[in-house]
Amino acid sequence: MKRVVFDRVGPPAEVLRIEDDVPAPQPRRGEVLVRMLASPVNPSDLMYVEGRYGLKPALPATPGFEGVGIVEATGGGLLGWFRKGKRVAVINDRVGNWAEYTVTKARQVVPVPDDLSDEQAASFFVNPATAVAMTQHVLHVPRGAWLLQSAAGGELGKMVIRLGHKLAFRTVNVVRRREQIDELKKLGADHVIVEGDGPVAEQVRKLVPDGVRYAIDPVGGATGTQVIAALARGGRCLLYGSLSDDPVQVHPRQAIGAGLRVEGFWLGEWAKRQRVLTMLKLFRRVKALMREGVLTTHIGATYPIEQVAKAVAHAAAPGKGGKVLLKIGDR
Ligand SMILES: NC(=O)c1ccc[n+]([C@@H]2O[C@H](COP(=O)([O-])OP(=O)(O)OC[C@H]3O[C@@H](n4cnc5c(N)ncnc54)[C@H](OP(=O)(O)O)[C@@H]3O)[C@@H](O)[C@H]2O)c1
Repeated sequence: MKRVVFDRVGPPAEVLRIEDDVPAPQPRRGEVLVRMLASPVNPSDLMYVEGRYGLKPALPATPGFEGVGIVEATGGGLLGWFRKGKRVAVINDRVGNWAEYTVTKARQVVPVPDDLSDEQAASFFVNPATAVAMTQHVLHVPRGAWLLQSAAGGELGKMVIRLGHKLAFRTVNVVRRREQIDELKKLGADHVIVEGDGPVAEQVRKLVPDGVRYAIDPVGGATGTQVIAALARGGRCLLYGSLSDDPVQVHPRQAIGAGLRVEGFWLGEWAKRQRVLTMLKLFRRVKALMREGVLTTHIGATYPIEQVAKAVAHAAAPGKGGKVLLKIGDR
């Protein structure tokens, strides 16, 4: 089979190469063999290849944490047997999905409905589940409350805006490009502010004078620092990404006086602490919200797996215009 591989960490467009003729991996007991159809290029995949992610690759390694494929075989176990022949969304932290075949635990594949395209099903876990988990399971953002988010024009940010519109919580959205304002307002954003127009916390307090009770930030650095500075008394902020690669600053007096909570959120770690039933309910909710168009991923470009270097270069470019998808196989 064909797969993407890297032998050293570094810039993805430089270190990734195609291997053409390697044996397919063998599923162990409790695992399934999946023939991959498509997989998105997420920021976490790029950071993994760069050696900047929470999981470190055992080299040589294949990237690709999520995607969609068809279960071709099982290594044994009841769940795998039930999944055989099904088109499934695949989450994979063991072998990597940017390959014609991959193996993963049977409980890490979720059958997808026929009316969900491969393009949408490929991004089932990472962004949709995170958007719902952060706002509904961790922060429990109530109806009418304000949620502030940075990187709001990204695919996950747009899902949070649509969720707010559907579930009646209000969003203040921070972007770095002015041309995103209209698009985000059309999706249901209550306010969109541009980082370059002045300190984010000041801009937020003009709109919500007491500050916001809830915030999520995947940028860190100066942006994350400003997001935290915009919190109201008793406010809570989830840090869930490190796009700027810089630390945030919180003055202890601000945190003490206002009783702030600033926490990290990582879907994989959070999911491990949940009961099986909670995760099943979450997946059912994600499926329904994807079909309603709330948790939709806009695909900016599709590349065949052979053009992985072009795909990752495109995915790393500012203002890339949607998720970059690797097409791996046909149904
Ligand atoms: N913790 C978790 O479990 C978890 C789960 C899912 C996703 N995430 C994180 O969520 C983030 C967003 O993912 P995504 O799939 O939505 O990515 P995406 O579609 O690539 O969007 C990224 C957005 O961030 C903006 N951005 C990038 N670097 C920035 C910077 N230095 N300062 C300000 N804005 C910046 C981009 O702006 P432009 O449009 O101007 O380029 C874009 O709007 C990533 O950091 C990802 O790792 C974390």
